[in-house]
Amino acid sequence: MEAQNAQRRSYQVVIAATRDMGIGIDMKLPWDLPNEYQFFQDVTSRTSDPRKRNATIMGRKSWEATPLEFRPLPGRLNVVLTRSNCHSIPTDDDNVMVCGSMESALELLGKPPYSFSIEKVFFIGGGELLRQYMNAPSCDAIHLTEVDISVPCDTFAPRVDTCLYRPWYSSLPVVENGIRYSFNTYVRRKDLISGSGLEAEQYSFLPKIVFERHEELGYLNLVQQIISHGDLNDNNTLLSKFGCQLRFNLRKTFPLLKTKKVLWVGVVEEILQLISGSTYPREKGINHIWESDEAKEYLDSFGVEATEEDGDHPLLTGLYWRHSDASQELSQISDVINKIKNNPHDRGITLSACKLSLSSCQTFAQFYVANGELSCQIYQSSTEASLGIPFSIAAYSLLTCIIAHVCDVAAGDFIHLIGDAHVNTSHTKAIQKQLQISPKPFPILKINPEKTKIEHVEASDLDLLDV
Ligand SMILES: NC(=O)c1ccc[n+]([C@@H]2O[C@H](COP(=O)([O-])OP(=O)(O)OC[C@H]3O[C@@H](n4cnc5c(N)ncnc54)[C@H](OP(=O)(O)O)[C@@H]3O)[C@@H](O)[C@H]2O)c1
Repeated sequence: MEAQNAQRRSYQVVIAATRDMGIGIDMKLPWDLPNEYQFFQDVTSRTSDPRKRNATIMGRKSWEATPLEFRPLPGRLNVVLTRSNCHSIPTDDDNVMVCGSMESALELLGKPPYSFSIEKVFFIGGGELLRQYMNAPSCDAIHLTEVDISVPCDTFAPRVDTCLYRPWYSSLPVVENGIRYSFNTYVRRKDLISGSGLEAEQYSFLPKIVFERHEELGYLNLVQQIISHGDLNDNNTLLSKFGCQLRFNLRKTFPLLKTKKVLWVGVVEEILQLISGSTYPREKGINHIWESDEAKEYLDSFGVEATEEDGDHPLLTGLYWRHSDASQELSQISDVINKIKNNPHDRGITLSACKLSLSSCQTFAQFYVANGELSCQIYQSSTEASLGIPFSIAAYSLLTCIIAHVCDVAAGDFIHLIGDAHVNTSHTKAIQKQLQISPKPFPILKINPEKTKIEHVEASDLDLLDV
C-alpha cells in the first residue's frame, strides 16, 4: 500500500471561471475567448522533454461537452472519469484512458508505462469533479483564468481556498472580444505540498510558461544583462545599462523581491516618513538604506562593501512631496490624492522631486486611474541594481498601495523606469550567486481598512502576509 501511494501522481488544475466561479452553461463555455483557449492548449500540451506528453483528466460530461472535432485533445493522454460503462468514450484509442475514480487514474499514471511517458498531469474539470478534487491534497497548483464577467451559468467550480493556496503569478488584465480577464496561478502552500521538499521549494513542477512569467525574473534578467553586457565606466568600478523598464502587478501580491533581502521595516519607515513631509530620514532615527546595520550585515555576508557609488539619498524627497513650491506651501501628496478622488482622468497626477539636484533620486512619479485601479510609474535617473532597485520597487509599490487605499480604488500596476541601472564591479561575483536563486511567491499586503487618511497610516497598519 505504501509503495502504491509513493507512486501516485499529483496534478495541477487548469480552468477558467467567471467572477462567481461559473464555468459552463448548457454544456458549453459561457464565452468565446480564443487566446484564453490557446493558453489552455499551451499549458496542458507543452513538455520540456519532447519524448513525453502530458495527461489531462476530465469528467465524463466535460469529455462530452468538448466538440467532436477537438476530442480527444490532441497531443495529450485524455483520462476520462466515469462511474458507469459509458459507450460514448472510445476504448480503442491510445490517446484515451477511462478510469472509475481519480485515485485509480493517479495510481495508473504513476506506474509504467505512464510514469515514464507522461510528464505532467492536469485536471481540467468540470464542476462536479472540481468540487471533489480542486482542494484535495494531490493538487499542487491551480491555473485559473479569472474572467471578469457575471453571466448565467449552470456549472460552477469552488473558490480557490486561500488557506491552502497562495498566488504565484497574476497576469496583467487582457481584453478579448470586449471581455476582461487575467491568467492566475495559485500554488499550494509550501508546508502543505505533496512530493519532495526540494521540488516544492523550487516550484519547478509548474509548467515552464507559467514559471517564467514570475515578475521577479524580469528583475533578475535585468541584473544579468547589466553584468553580462553592461557598459564599463572609466575607472572599471561600475557596469551599467541605460534605459530599463520593470513592471509589477499589485492586484493580488506585493513585489517584495525574494531573491534579494529587502528591508521591509526600512521601506515602511522611509515611505511613511516621506509622506509626513520630513526633510531627512535621520530626524526620526531612520538610517540611510546603505548605512543600516541589516544592510551592512547583508553585504558582509557576501563579502562586499557598499561604496558611495552604490547610490545616495535614495528617497530624500519628502520635503518636495509635501512642499513643492515653498511660496504656495502646496502639498504634492494632497494634490495627488485630491485628483485621484475628484478628477481621476487628469493626465498630470504627478509627484516631482526635480528641484533636488541629487545625483540619484527618484525624480518623477506619475499616477494613472483606469477601471477603478491606480497605477504608478516612476522615473529614477540612476540607481544601484542589487539593493537600490529592490528597495525602490518595494517603496513605490507601497506608496501606490497606500494612496490607492485612502482613495478607495484598487492598486493596479507599478512601472519602474530607470535611466542608469548599475552594479559595482566588485559585487558581480556575489550577485551571480544570487541570480541562481529561484523566485518564490510574493507576499500579500493588507492595509488597515479603518485608516482612510494618508497622514493617519502607521507602520502597524501595514501587514505583509506570507513573507
Ligand atoms: N470553464 C472551464 O474551464 C471548464 C472546464 C471543464 C468543463 N467545463 C464545463 O463544465 C460542464 C461539465 O461539468 P459537469 O460538472 O457537468 O460534469 P463533469 O464534472 O465534467 O463530469 C461529471 C461526471 O464525471 C463522472 N464523475 C464524477 N465524479 C466522479 C468520481 N468521483 N469518480 C468517477 N467518475 C466521476 C460522472 O460520470 P458518469 O455519470 O458517467 O458516471 C459524472 O456524471 C460543461 O458545461 C463544460 O463546458 C468548463
